[in-house]
Amino acid sequence: MFPIVHARQLSDSVFELGVQAPAIAAKAKAGQFLMLRIAEGGERIPLTFSDWSAKEGWIRFIFMRVGKTTHHLSHLCVGDSLADVVGPLGVPTHVEGIGRAVVVGGGVGAAVAYPVARAMCDAGAEVTVIVGARNADLLILEDEFRALPLKELIITTDDGSAGRKDLVTAPLKELCEARAVDHAMAIGPVIMMKFCAATTREFGVPTVVSLNPIMVDGTGMCGACRCTVGGETKFGCVDGPDFDGHQVDFEELMNRQRVYNDLEREADADYSRKCSCHQ
Ligand SMILES: Cc1cc2nc3c(=O)[nH]c(=O)nc-3n(C[C@H](O)[C@H](O)[C@H](O)COP(=O)(O)OP(=O)(O)OC[C@H]3O[C@@H](n4cnc5c(N)ncnc54)[C@H](O)[C@@H]3O)c2cc1C
Ligand code: FES
Repeated sequence: MFPIVHARQLSDSVFELGVQAPAIAAKAKAGQFLMLRIAEGGERIPLTFSDWSAKEGWIRFIFMRVGKTTHHLSHLCVGDSLADVVGPLGVPTHVEGIGRAVVVGGGVGAAVAYPVARAMCDAGAEVTVIVGARNADLLILEDEFRALPLKELIITTDDGSAGRKDLVTAPLKELCEARAVDHAMAIGPVIMMKFCAATTREFGVPTVVSLNPIMVDGTGMCGACRCTVGGETKFGCVDGPDFDGHQVDFEELMNRQRVYNDLEREADADYSRKCSCHQ
């Protein structure tokens, strides 16, 4: 069992949990993820590390409540436990020797962008971060980003309720036009990563995206997470989750993500019904 030692609500639908997991905390690196099960027989879901302490033996992850399992997770508190946590999984994000970097985090993707930006700063890169959200209430980790030694933090919201009223691609394009960036990383909804990659392609700026295909085992055994990159089949869990954004088949990824939509909606509705019965 993995005891929950930290719980915080970051916005209406975004939550952070921390669990005691010394063996995982000792090895975690930016861009890697874990697979968890809340209880025996439950669904396994992948979530990226948002923070960890090898010294104190804890790991943290940030998640958006989107369906049954994340709904259930959002009800857990300090003192509860998770049945399984497996990790660190995936290849760590490449952060060494990248010069002037821009890291784009959209929505809950900011949770993954934060440790990546921190690791790039630690590795000596000059880092600009663009964080985008639909509105001010959905912005997360602003204080944490401000505490990093960034070149600049640019905030955008779709409705202008915080920062610039723009999509993340607008400041990204300006940085590329100003030739102020050698390397881009985009993390967030697939559609956002697709348009970030399209923006940087024009300027020949190498761009990495962190993909989030459906995963089942997270260890390269089941093939559920396969995606096409540069015409080749890759497994998101062991070959990624980071890939060259200019080579990813985003349409295929979006189609594969929708495969279980009906079942997911049913499972969440069933869970919500049971929750309200027990209130
Ligand atoms: C490598 C990786 C890292 C991720 N990191 C984060 C993170 O840090 N924070 C965060 O909020 N989300 C993250 N996700 C997405 C997260 O795993 C899904 O939101 C979660 O599994 C949804 O489960 P659910 O039962 O609540 O919702 P469901 O109703 O089951 O699904 C809602 C949507 O989530 C996606 N999803 C569902 N099951 C899975 C699965 N087994 N694997 C991957 N995606 C799934 C699908 O797009 C689906 O349409 C990550 C996904 C991957 C692959
Ligand atoms: S999740 Fe099974 S192979 Fe990647």
